[in-house]
This record gives sequence, structure tokens and C-alpha cells, in this order.
Amino acid sequence: MKHLQFQRHRRLRQTANMRALVRETHLHTEDFIYPIFVVEGENKRNPVASMPGVEQVSLDLLNAEIQEAVDLGIKSIIVFGIPHEKDEVGSSAYCDHGIVQKAIAQVKEQFPELVVIADTCLCQFTSHGHCGVIENGVIVNDESLELLAKTAVSQAKAGADIIAPSNMMDGFVAAIRHALDENGFSHVPIMSYAVKFSSAHYGPFRDAAHSSPKFGDRKAYQMDPANRLEALREAESDVLEGADFLMVKPALSYLDIIRDVKNNFNLPIVAYNVSGEYSMVKAAAQNGWINEREIVLEQLVSMKRAGADLILTYFAKDAAKWLKEGD
Ligand code: PBG
Ligand code: ZN
Repeated sequence: MKHLQFQRHRRLRQTANMRALVRETHLHTEDFIYPIFVVEGENKRNPVASMPGVEQVSLDLLNAEIQEAVDLGIKSIIVFGIPHEKDEVGSSAYCDHGIVQKAIAQVKEQFPELVVIADTCLCQFTSHGHCGVIENGVIVNDESLELLAKTAVSQAKAGADIIAPSNMMDGFVAAIRHALDENGFSHVPIMSYAVKFSSAHYGPFRDAAHSSPKFGDRKAYQMDPANRLEALREAESDVLEGADFLMVKPALSYLDIIRDVKNNFNLPIVAYNVSGEYSMVKAAAQNGWINEREIVLEQLVSMKRAGADLILTYFAKDAAKWLKEGD
């Protein structure tokens, strides 16, 4: 063996402390954005069947839910609303007393320090379940922008710290930036769902948010999973339009895209660890087929290693607990 030349990589792996010294990527609780589903009504904690551990919460129980996250050290949440009433043009999305607006105002009053992000879209609020306005059976772009801009402004008025548009119309960042600036909200950042693929991984979310399209699919506005250069074009246009954060969604099947976006732009990058990614792990864990804690921490660290600065994840509270416990 003496004549062999090789590297002894295992020198740096011998003990937990040695491994900690050379670890390149770290998860922190402040990396996590915790998603919350709010519903109208009272005393509601409706479990979402396809997302074990996730609930739709009514406003009277919301503070307790958020307190738990805050106690774990979580610094930001994103609010998704499920309204009472839906119509063709998603009026409840931009009504000043809409469920999202009420939730934001209440949370900011109780937790002024918490960074409250508003998801800005129409699909939970439209009777047809699409993210834009429909004319003659097609989702029309520019007419949708007006409503999205109105939605963003009403969310900012309610006190949202960040506007996160997820609709994938062209020009949504420009339209929202302009509307925010015109209405005295030039200080409110935009976290753009810049690169959002048309993905089967959103299924459980659509149960949670009651936002499935009633006809067709979202392929005429969300991206084709096969496309990498197009992802860069999407990110580039949002940067030019004034985005402050760039999101890539979903995360796990798109780690290459996260890296591409990270390498090409100098904005904070957000990975959205979506509902299907959550539910697959939960299902396997419930069957005893995997070690949930280890799987989740490995997946989350892989998103950061790929280049994500922040991770929007339904595992936020669990991961925060696990990080507290240490290994
Ligand atoms: C829609 C929206 C979707 C998600 C958040 N907002 C996807 C969609 O229905 O197309 C998905 C989130 C998830 O799956 O966790 N604007
Ligand atoms: Zn939508």
C-alpha cells in the first residue's frame, strides 16, 4: 500500500466536533418563513387532510398559533387566506376587510416585530380558481395586473411588511411596484415568486387553500418544468422591474435552478419547499419508512447549499425545534 498516493478526506470526518468545524452550510431558524392559512369564522382549526400537521386557523385562534412560532425563534410568516365568498374577479382579495387584510392587521398589532409577508394572488378568491381574470375562456394578462396591484396595495395598507406576488402574470412586479409607490408604500419590498413552475407538487396546497382551478390547468402562466434558460429570463425581468427577493418554487426538483438564479443575480433567494414535498415526507414518515427529522433537515440544508438564503416551509416549526435540540 505504501506506494499509493491518495487524499485522506476522512481526516475531517472523524468526530462530530471535527465535522462541525468544516461544515460549509448551516440552517438557522431565522432562515425559515412559516406559512399560515387563515379562514373566516370562529374557533376553527380545520386540519388539512393531505397535509398532516397543517391547519386552517380562524382569526380568534391565530395569535396562539403565531405565538408558538415566535417562541421557537421564527422571524417571518406568510399569510394565505381562504375567503367566505368567491367571484369571477376575486373581489375578496382586494377588499380592505378581506380575510388576509384582517389577519395581517391583527398579527401586526399583536406581533409588531414579526415580518408578515402577504401572498398576493387571486386564485383563492376567484370562483374559477385561476390566478388572473378570465375573458372568453383565457386568462388575460394586463387586466389581471390591475387587480393584483389593488390586492398588493390593500395588503400593504393592512400592514404587510413584504408583498409576495405568486400569480405569474407578465409584468406583475412592475405593476405592483408602481401601485405601491403611488400609494405611499415605496418602503414595502416585493418578494417575487419569480420562477414558479407548473408543478404537480402543489396538489395538497390547493386542498388547504381551496384554490384548484375549476377548469384547465395553470400551464399557460406557470413555467414548464423542463426549462432552465427561461427561468433566468423570468428572474431577470423581475429584477429589472424592481423585485427585492427572488423565489424559486418548488424547491427539491429545482435545486439546479436555485443555484442558477443565485449565481446570476445578487438578490436574496427564497426556496419554496412546497406542499407536495411536505406531504410526501409526512406520508412516508407516518408509515415508519423514513426518519422524518433526518430527512427534513437533509432536504432543508440541500436547499441552502443550492443557494437559497431563505426557505418557505411547512416544516418551519418542526425544524426550529430540531435545531434547538441540536444533534
Ligand atoms: C397560487 C399558489 C400556489 C402555491 C402557493 N400559491 C400554487 C398553485 O396553486 O399554482 C403552492 C404552494 C404549495 O404547494 O405549497 N398562487
Ligand atoms: Zn394563484
